[in-house]
Amino acid sequence: MSIVPVITIDGPSASGKGTVAQRVAAELGFGYLDSGALYRLTALAAERRQLNWRDEVVVARLAGELDVVFDGAAVLLDGNNVAEAIRGETVGVGASIVAALPSVRTALLARQHAFAALPGLVADGRDMGSVVFPDARLKVFLTASAAARAERRYKQLIGRGEQADLAAITADLESRDARDRERKVAPLQQWPDALLLDTTDMGIDEAVEQVLMWWKTR
Ligand code: DC
Repeated sequence: MSIVPVITIDGPSASGKGTVAQRVAAELGFGYLDSGALYRLTALAAERRQLNWRDEVVVARLAGELDVVFDGAAVLLDGNNVAEAIRGETVGVGASIVAALPSVRTALLARQHAFAALPGLVADGRDMGSVVFPDARLKVFLTASAAARAERRYKQLIGRGEQADLAAITADLESRDARDRERKVAPLQQWPDALLLDTTDMGIDEAVEQVLMWWKTR
């Protein structure tokens, strides 16, 4: 087992795992890896170069060469802050397409491993506990019903002053979940050694408390 303590939080889109993971990391003084951001950055970089998201060879090469710097809340791609641009819905769809390409996943592996540093790391994604950090000391599978997740995403978009349509968001989440679950490499699923945290009827504070409690009792 690696000497760096790692907590993995995997789960579907809009389950709140990013917020929970960041809060847990802050509480413990650990680093934080948002692995979804790497797939989103790959999709955005491909789009900006007018590359086809399904062209595995070309997109994998791009993923391996990404010029990315995470600096607090800023995410620099080729020197430009794209923290907001990578949160767009179209980039999210592109991310789930490029994430299904095995060579893209391989190309991003070393970059993810590099985040593991003392005093520890909280990593969120889909395959953190299964593929990227299989030796993690605590693995959580954080989920919520599709309806609850769609409503959270809806409120988030409205809160940002963006247009939002609950039915369209629900349909989009369901198709993205299906793509993440059904792909051949590193599919989204709860692994036997991950603890289930269903946040359908739970606030963020409670979810954070639960993860910290599990961590203390490890
Ligand atoms: O968590 P997110 O919505 O930012 O992730 C964007 C996409 O990237 C999502 O469709 C699934 C994919 N992804 C993945 O395949 N593996 C990860 N570890 C993280 C994200």
